[in-house]
Amino acid sequence: MLSKNIESALNDQVRIEAESSQAYLSMASWAETHGLEGISKFMYAQSDEERAHMLKMVKFINERGGHAQVTELKAPKTAYSTFKEMFEELYKHEVFVSESINELVHISLTEKDYATHNFLQWYVAEQIEEEAQAKNILDKINLIGDDKGGLYLFDRDIQQLTANKGA
Ligand code: FEO
Repeated sequence: MLSKNIESALNDQVRIEAESSQAYLSMASWAETHGLEGISKFMYAQSDEERAHMLKMVKFINERGGHAQVTELKAPKTAYSTFKEMFEELYKHEVFVSESINELVHISLTEKDYATHNFLQWYVAEQIEEEAQAKNILDKINLIGDDKGGLYLFDRDIQQLTANKGA
């Protein structure tokens, strides 16, 4: 059974995952309308992943005797000056999500809720992967600089990344 404190902290994370999904959906739509097909596919897949993260948490809360809340969400940004700026935001956002997961892990340990602690390990591993991926992509973007040919190849390659993840 979840304590009220943990239930509320997990529900905050449900909202954060839902907001992440919306933010990446907005990025996907922006990229799609700017001729960046590969980037947009990648972002659509990221958005789906975040929704899966949210659903996993909703199920856990309800399974443990809590009540997962579906709430109003903060509207994401709808425009970006460059695709680089968009990926910088994705990276920053993933770092923020990792901090939030770490805080949840801390709360679960403080309350000696080992079931929740165990459940959260999946998110800890996922965040390591997502942060590393975002950082990798940013490094590539910095290599490309203003080279249009480089952007063309990057847009093609990132599609491959989506395919490899099976999304
Ligand atoms: Fe579910 Fe990428 O945070």
